[in-house]
Amino acid sequence: MSIDGETRLAGVLGWPVAHSRSPRLHNFWLERYGINGAYLPLPVRAEHFAEAVRGLVRLGFAGANVTVPHKEAAYALCDSADESARKAGAANTLVFTPTGEIHGSNTDGFGFIEALRAGAPAYDPAKGPAVVLGAGGSARAVVQALIAAGAPEIRLVNRTPERAERLAAALGGPIRRLAWEEAARALAGAALLVNTTLLGMKGQPPLALDLAALPRSAPVNDIVYVPLETPLLRAARARGHPAVDGLGMLLHQARAGFRAWFGRDPEVTDALRRHVAADLIAEMERG
Ligand SMILES: NC(=O)c1ccc[n+]([C@@H]2O[C@H](COP(=O)([O-])OP(=O)(O)OC[C@H]3O[C@@H](n4cnc5c(N)ncnc54)[C@H](OP(=O)(O)O)[C@@H]3O)[C@@H](O)[C@H]2O)c1
Repeated sequence: MSIDGETRLAGVLGWPVAHSRSPRLHNFWLERYGINGAYLPLPVRAEHFAEAVRGLVRLGFAGANVTVPHKEAAYALCDSADESARKAGAANTLVFTPTGEIHGSNTDGFGFIEALRAGAPAYDPAKGPAVVLGAGGSARAVVQALIAAGAPEIRLVNRTPERAERLAAALGGPIRRLAWEEAARALAGAALLVNTTLLGMKGQPPLALDLAALPRSAPVNDIVYVPLETPLLRAARARGHPAVDGLGMLLHQARAGFRAWFGRDPEVTDALRRHVAADLIAEMERG
């Protein structure tokens, strides 16, 4: 990579940000397509976030991704935002216009649905109820995407009922809220199970859920990606369910930003998957 006066710049804003896979992913695409661009990790504390974004605009950056804990603050800063960001109340992708305006979107829902289509091609969201575990930031994007894809019912199961209530009020649509204790029963007749909780993630307890009631044709999608093979996915594979890990969502959600900043719709290939998965595996091995 050589940097010159024409190099297009983008990056990821977060605190901390060293764990983010976005630089590895976007720089893979930049190299693959021979684009004169660079994508940087941009560690910024919450109290400096607005100032830092305005600085990037002034420095001529094309835009940025935004990760924890800045997604809501990013949305608040936007001059315009698409429906995905408005409904989530959060933006993970910022595009800076030539006149210095900030446009925000939330690409997690797109990433989720594209990864699900790729990982479980026989699944049709309109075919039956989807069970979504969790009601945090990523659940908003997942539920929104499933409603848009025509899911007739979303069974939303969360430990804290008030959070599920807020999500349902914000999104509307065919959401049925269920208590955490009802998770196993909620699987009866479902066409899809998605885990958006922290359970199963490195450093968290595994998700203990009896899958017996879930029809075998229903895909199980765990959006947790460290580790890639969670105990939930292992149990799902053992029962014969199509199993979709969280890496695809991570890769597909990045496409819109790359296209906007660098002018090319990038492909999610096996080579890219291996490149990013190697980093995730190394993180698990570090313990
Ligand atoms: N693959 C991808 O591209 C992608 C994208 C975004 C996120 N993710 C992953 O998705 C996961 C969730 O992220 P997020 O941003 O949505 O987090 P978040 O906003 O903090 O939400 C966390 C959710 O987990 C639930 N939870 C946490 N501990 C629990 C426990 N012990 N028992 C039951 N429920 C528990 C919370 O329930 P309460 O409401 O009761 O606290 C909440 O619903 C993370 O592992 C993240 O890495 C993946």
